[in-house]
Amino acid sequence: MTETIKGSIILVTGATGAIAQALIAELKARGAAKIYAAARDVSALTASDGVVPVKMDVTSDDDVVKAAGLLGDVTLLINNAGVNYNTGFMAAPDVAIAREEIEINYLAPLRVTKAFAPALIKNKGAVLNILTILARVNLPFMGSYCASKAAGLSLTQGLRGDLGPMGVRVAAALPGAVDTRMTAMLTIPKMTTADAAKEILDGFEAGEEEIYVGEMARGLAQGLAHDPKGVERQLASPG
Ligand SMILES: NC(=O)c1ccc[n+]([C@@H]2O[C@H](COP(=O)([O-])OP(=O)(O)OC[C@H]3O[C@@H](n4cnc5c(N)ncnc54)[C@H](OP(=O)(O)O)[C@@H]3O)[C@@H](O)[C@H]2O)c1
Repeated sequence: MTETIKGSIILVTGATGAIAQALIAELKARGAAKIYAAARDVSALTASDGVVPVKMDVTSDDDVVKAAGLLGDVTLLINNAGVNYNTGFMAAPDVAIAREEIEINYLAPLRVTKAFAPALIKNKGAVLNILTILARVNLPFMGSYCASKAAGLSLTQGLRGDLGPMGVRVAAALPGAVDTRMTAMLTIPKMTTADAAKEILDGFEAGEEEIYVGEMARGLAQGLAHDPKGVERQLASPG
């Protein structure tokens, strides 16, 4: 099963995003053989040495099936594309936001992984899902995002059960806050995208299944191990 980046052939979804761009830079630095940068708008990407833009809206069966048919050499799939409407369950006027977050943060990585599974099995590859520490505890002012990422964590566990016996490693990264457009409205300490990318890939290369990224994520994970109800209450009234 893939654990080292050197020589890997990687597909990153949501490649126009800030964490994806830092991951791509770090993957190149660690010797990736080729990186497929998948985005719904490829005009925002430029091909460079070892980086191949690929058109992929992760909500589109056509895009995903077509890409999987063409890219049978992938050894590591990074499900990174995601959305966060930063909206609470009660603040949302209806369920449209929750549905979109579920579509992109849960159903899309399921779709993409199913499509690439034959290649990953053939290549004894790996899947790395970019989740969040909020997959493990709900932060109510972005409640539906957390629920969609909790579904992503359960997806990760289920895929590990399905694909592990076929030689495919399935891991998840659970970062705390990272400084991207997704967190632009938050005035809390945030990691740089470069530090997040390094920690994600350090954990991946160390063989971790759940990679806690940054002090915030590690602190919350420790709290959840010792006092889960206390952490739940802390996040429900963060002031
Ligand atoms: N920032 C944080 O604090 C933080 C913390 C923990 C986890 N994460 C996770 O890290 C991942 C990357 O987030 P980010 O912070 O880098 O945010 P970002 O800069 O907003 O990147 C999100 C990416 O997802 C793409 N995307 C959204 N819907 C898509 C679709 N239907 N098809 C294909 N791509 C789609 C976006 O594409 P467009 O450019 O076309 O919109 C963008 O490239 C997400 O899964 C996020 O939940 C972020």
